[in-house]
Amino acid sequence: MSQNLPNIVLTGFMGTGKTTIGNEVARLLGKTFYDFDCIMEERMQISIKEIFEKYGEIFFREIERKIVMEFVNKTDAVIATGGGTLLFNNNYSILSENGIIFCLTTPKNILIKRLENSFARPLLSGGDLSERIECLLKEREVLYQKLPNPIDTSNLSSAEAASKIIEIYNQHLVTKKYNVDKK
Ligand code: S3P
Repeated sequence: MSQNLPNIVLTGFMGTGKTTIGNEVARLLGKTFYDFDCIMEERMQISIKEIFEKYGEIFFREIERKIVMEFVNKTDAVIATGGGTLLFNNNYSILSENGIIFCLTTPKNILIKRLENSFARPLLSGGDLSERIECLLKEREVLYQKLPNPIDTSNLSSAEAASKIIEIYNQHLVTKKYNVDKK
């Protein structure tokens, strides 16, 4: 019997592993994986960095919001949001209607290492990288802390993080009385 199972939504600061871990979760569960940044780049035919440069962040957030709205009626998907998606435009409420949100976290010093060669991220370009990360984290910390299911990915392989997420997801399905077909 087909069920409309809730989406698995991975969010968290840049560099916390949303795309890699999301791919792994989708592979293990045989679900379809959607990466919001990739969807946007495909639609716009330019990179996220170029979207910011050409049109600015407000425009970027509008397109991001449109993509969020396309998932209102989608179920059974694995989604990696952009790092800021759930902090803007009430996107959190929309995606949590039919999805379980997981907030991936990583301590600042590890983020700085992971992101040091990241030239594609407009919010981190220009100026001192660690200062930018620190400043943005400070701004967003309280918001990320309000998000459910925090998973610290710093000492986990992507397979370990994925299985942790799947375990919590399956527990949720049991609690909500879905038919769980454990994979
Ligand atoms: C952003 C994070 C990026 C991308 C955009 C804005 C943010 O996604 O959506 O540059 O506001 O944190 P990643 O977290 O996948 O790098």
